[in-house]
Amino acid sequence: MNIVVKLSGSLFKPENFDKLKPFKELFENFHDKGYHLILVAGGGDVARKYIEFCRKFQVNEGRLDEIGILASKLNAKLLASLLQDKAYSHIPENLKEVSLALESNKIVCCGGFHPGHSTNAVAALIAEYIKADLFINATDVDGIYDKDPKKYRDAKKIKEIRVQELFKMLSEDKMIAGSYELLDLLSLKILERSKLKAKVLLCEPKEVERALLGEDVGTLIIV
Ligand code: UTP
Repeated sequence: MNIVVKLSGSLFKPENFDKLKPFKELFENFHDKGYHLILVAGGGDVARKYIEFCRKFQVNEGRLDEIGILASKLNAKLLASLLQDKAYSHIPENLKEVSLALESNKIVCCGGFHPGHSTNAVAALIAEYIKADLFINATDVDGIYDKDPKKYRDAKKIKEIRVQELFKMLSEDKMIAGSYELLDLLSLKILERSKLKAKVLLCEPKEVERALLGEDVGTLIIV
């Protein structure tokens, strides 16, 4: 099983560091069972705060994206360091490097690649490139809702959603550095064209474990 797991950038806030130990154990355990795992770290608060600060100085969007990419790579390096010899120590810069890294049979940790998209898109691109069996987007909500659950109390969780429906929901999103939402348009395009199996769920070790075991958790995206 080749599985790509995008880990929310919020996991790498120092106040959430205690969650990293159970994640380390989870990934080591599944690696030992023979799963090929590619973990993609989000940029989180560091990316957002650095970008916000630099934007006040009219730094252009491409350069702001580069800051976000570096923050995500730092988070990926943290993850790879915790996984020690179970992880490939280099953080891949592109898809070719990811597939080379996979030949090591170690857990591969990645951050961002290029300006203009999110780490979700990176995870989708990797899933496509390596023909992953599953793409798990572990984020700060427990699935996709019909409206923003942080703003609306009556928002309802969706068990299964068509990618075309998501296009409609996301097409009005602004594409500016630091603010690519749950799944940006590029991620959706990739899911659609390669008919990837994708799940959106809460970034908690138990939930990710259930998804790795193939259990019904979060929201399933279908093409
Ligand atoms: P993320 O996509 O991780 O944003 O990268 P995030 O909001 O922290 O994601 P969550 O919290 O995990 O959901 C942070 C920023 O880095 C730039 C973008 O500006 C993005 O908003 N980035 C990241 C790129 O430009 N290219 C990449 O390949 C990755």
